[in-house]
Amino acid sequence: MDWWQTGIIYQIYPRSFKDSNGDGIGDLEGIISQLDYLNGTPESLGIDAIWISPIFPSPMADFGYDISDYTNIHPIFGNLEAFDRLIDEAHRRNIRVILDFVPNHTSDEHEWFLESRSSRDNPKRDWYIWRDAKPDGSPPNNWGSMFGGEAWTWDEQTQQYYLHLFLDKQPDLNWRNPEVEAAMLDVLRFWLDRGVDGFRIDVMSYIVKDKHFRDNPVLPDVRAVAPNNLWGKLEHLYDIDQPETHDIIRRIRRLFDSYQQRVLIGEVWVANQEAWIKYYGQNLDELHLPFNFDLLLCPWDAGAMRTAVNNLEAALPVGAHPNYVLGNHDISRLATRFGERAIRVAAMMLLTLRGTPTIYMGEELGMIDGVIPPERIQDPQGINLGADRTRDVCRTPFQWSSDSFAGFSIVEPWLPVAEGHLTRNVEVQSRDPYSILSLYRQLIRLRRNSPALGSGSYQEVLKDSETCFAYLREAEDEQYLIALNFTNCEQQLILEGQGKILLSTHLDREETVDLSTVTLRPDEGLIIRLIK
Ligand code: GLC
Repeated sequence: MDWWQTGIIYQIYPRSFKDSNGDGIGDLEGIISQLDYLNGTPESLGIDAIWISPIFPSPMADFGYDISDYTNIHPIFGNLEAFDRLIDEAHRRNIRVILDFVPNHTSDEHEWFLESRSSRDNPKRDWYIWRDAKPDGSPPNNWGSMFGGEAWTWDEQTQQYYLHLFLDKQPDLNWRNPEVEAAMLDVLRFWLDRGVDGFRIDVMSYIVKDKHFRDNPVLPDVRAVAPNNLWGKLEHLYDIDQPETHDIIRRIRRLFDSYQQRVLIGEVWVANQEAWIKYYGQNLDELHLPFNFDLLLCPWDAGAMRTAVNNLEAALPVGAHPNYVLGNHDISRLATRFGERAIRVAAMMLLTLRGTPTIYMGEELGMIDGVIPPERIQDPQGINLGADRTRDVCRTPFQWSSDSFAGFSIVEPWLPVAEGHLTRNVEVQSRDPYSILSLYRQLIRLRRNSPALGSGSYQEVLKDSETCFAYLREAEDEQYLIALNFTNCEQQLILEGQGKILLSTHLDREETVDLSTVTLRPDEGLIIRLIK
């Protein structure tokens, strides 16, 4: 198996991981200084790869997802020399480095767009999506922006609209133009040659749009969405997930395959699982891992999680590798979303399922959503669509210690530190053998040292339980039973045989048990090695 199949990915949101130069914003030097926390020493967490959200020059209208130069580093984060050092230092600790590639749009301050908007006959005009107004002056169609309002902005100077599925400061590139593709493949080459181990591709499924720019159908019931949330009112038939996208991904994949051991991961939002699966490619020649958000979208419920996992296992083509995500920089933290009592069982589930897990930084500390005073909201989604939609809540500074600003910075950080940092921090939790951080470390260790957990088969047990999700992982002659109690009441497991408890989410139990009488305590998960 390849490293990205057996390994664990850890997502770093660089603005909030570690500030080394006292400007309140995280940076590359900060990441380098904390690599030992991630891997390479006996005390490390033990992850295999870091995916770093965008670190390139950007006006930061969408905090780096609006890139103005694809082949450089934003001075806020450092420079290319620091980046090269990061790669070396990470590799020395067996940490692979995955960067974030944003192909759907650039910043409106990117040189390409400045040229494109300068005149209708500029050679780069067609690198973006320009359309005439309708006769009454209104936009070419009814598409909306994900960040509120129309997806079209009028350009006075050249008298046309340009398309942006996100902010007006994030114009969409025209991937139907082969020059755009060539330029973007060059960007990937630039970083792959520098030793980057892979890419996570931003909104991979959005890059191509309907050739005829047809109106999207309007959804029948849209009362729940904010008035300016035009995106939320439409069915996304023509603005995303167009068949031509797959040809482009195949060509990107070919580039990756011309290097050794690089991983191609994509953020894929589409209408359903059938459409999502296609992103592996008909011959598994597209994404290695289309991010799987099924569990992230589930309620905290044993039946819902089991169904999501089983549906995926049943739908995956032979050879396609599963993966699971429970949190990222776009969604409320799992302690807040599922409730704090769920975090241990969630960790055990994520790290024992068949497939590559991605951990979002801070989940291993049980961090909760930050409280962002209205005047400190930074995220354009929160500013445009309402405070309840701000993604700032999950982007607060990482909590290193009980010091001021949680040891993240020596000055007030760009976002406030979340509550509970005095206990939910690396320093305190490293000393506590029962902490959630200790649980993550042990889970990762166990997974790394066990063929069954790392790469074995998956089989559900207790098919109809409404309270527990249980499954077997098996490889060679190792058989592990994972039993997860999703309720806050005791549950009795009634199975056959004998086993040895290797790990409890409560970190206080290692005993041989008779499977017909095992009791799971409230919110407890167990990993049991079966004895034949
Ligand atoms: C993706 C990113 C998100 C960003 C958006 C636009 O969904 O994860 O943070 O705002 O794309 O690039």
